[in-house]
Formats: sequence, structure tokens, C-alpha cells
Amino acid sequence: MVQNIRQEGSVRMKTIYLIGFMGSGKTTIARELSRVLRYPVIDLDESIVKKEGISISDIFSTKGEVYFRELEKEALRTLEQTAIVSTGGGIVVKEENREWMLKNGIVVFLDCELDEIWNRIKGDESRPLAKRKEDVVKLYHERKPLYQQCHIQVDTTNLTMNQTCNCIINELEKG
Ligand code: S3P
Repeated sequence: MVQNIRQEGSVRMKTIYLIGFMGSGKTTIARELSRVLRYPVIDLDESIVKKEGISISDIFSTKGEVYFRELEKEALRTLEQTAIVSTGGGIVVKEENREWMLKNGIVVFLDCELDEIWNRIKGDESRPLAKRKEDVVKLYHERKPLYQQCHIQVDTTNLTMNQTCNCIINELEKG
């Protein structure tokens, strides 16, 4: 079945947007899906860092979150190819981004329990919005209904990377 997707990929594949909270595994899963399906992978945060020439943390601290959200929106709209796209956790905050992704591709929500999320991201200095647990808890609950506006939802809490990828591929094949 995976073979079918690979062979027919150029005809059938749409851009796949991976969405989910920080630490839900978007970057890792995007790379693995790209390897298995032989599709290009694009990391939106990486493309912003490359274009701006400074880190995400520095963008937040020098120009602020509102500015970052504009860069993120722009990056989403200027993707040049059909790809597996790993988005930043806050992409869903703008309704226009949610609409864009739902209209232009397949939106896959990588869900994960909050305790596991916190274990993965605590102490990570590169994530400006994940410094305090109370902020993370609040954001997680605020955003969950936004992430649920998706085509495919997978709870990755107890899944390995391979199991998550297989699960996504199975769902993609169902059409
Ligand atoms: C953010 C998530 C980060 C990054 C930025 C803001 C968020 O990406 O875009 O720090 O608002 O959740 P990851 O989800 O890859 O950590």
C-alpha cells in the first residue's frame, strides 16, 4: 500500500501539513514521512530562520510574537512545492492559516498528552513560549480545539515514530 502512494505520488499527493503542540513530534515525523513516501520535507520554522538570519528565540525577543506570526503566515503561503510540511505549534492561532491548510492540503494533527509534552519540552531554551509550565498548560488547552480542525488526528503519546508514520499513511490511503 505504501508502495502505491510512492508510485502514484506525483499524481495523488497533496501537501501534508503536520500540526500540533510544541514537542508533539512534527519535525521528526515529517522527516520520516518524507523518507518513506519520498516526498520533499519543509520545516516552516527553519525556513523563517534561514530567511531572517536569526533564531526563533531572537525573533521573539527583538521583534515580538506578532511579527513572528506574520513571518509564519507568509512562509506558509509562499511554499514552492508539494511537500510534507512541519509547521510551528502556533500556526493554528490565525484562522486564515487554518483555512489555508485545510483548503490546500491534508492537515494531520499530531496529538499528545500534556504531561508527555511538558517532559519533552521543559528546559528547552529555543522555545520562547515554553519557559513556564503554567503558560504551556494554558496554551495547550486554548489550542487543542484549533488543532482539531484537521483531516487526520493521531494520538502519538504511546506510539513509536514508525507506528505514528504507519498510522498516518493508513489514514492517507483511506483517502
Ligand atoms: C511555537 C512553536 C515553535 C516555534 C515558536 C512558536 C508556538 O515551533 O514556531 O517557538 O507558538 O507553539 P515547534 O512547535 O516546532 O516547537
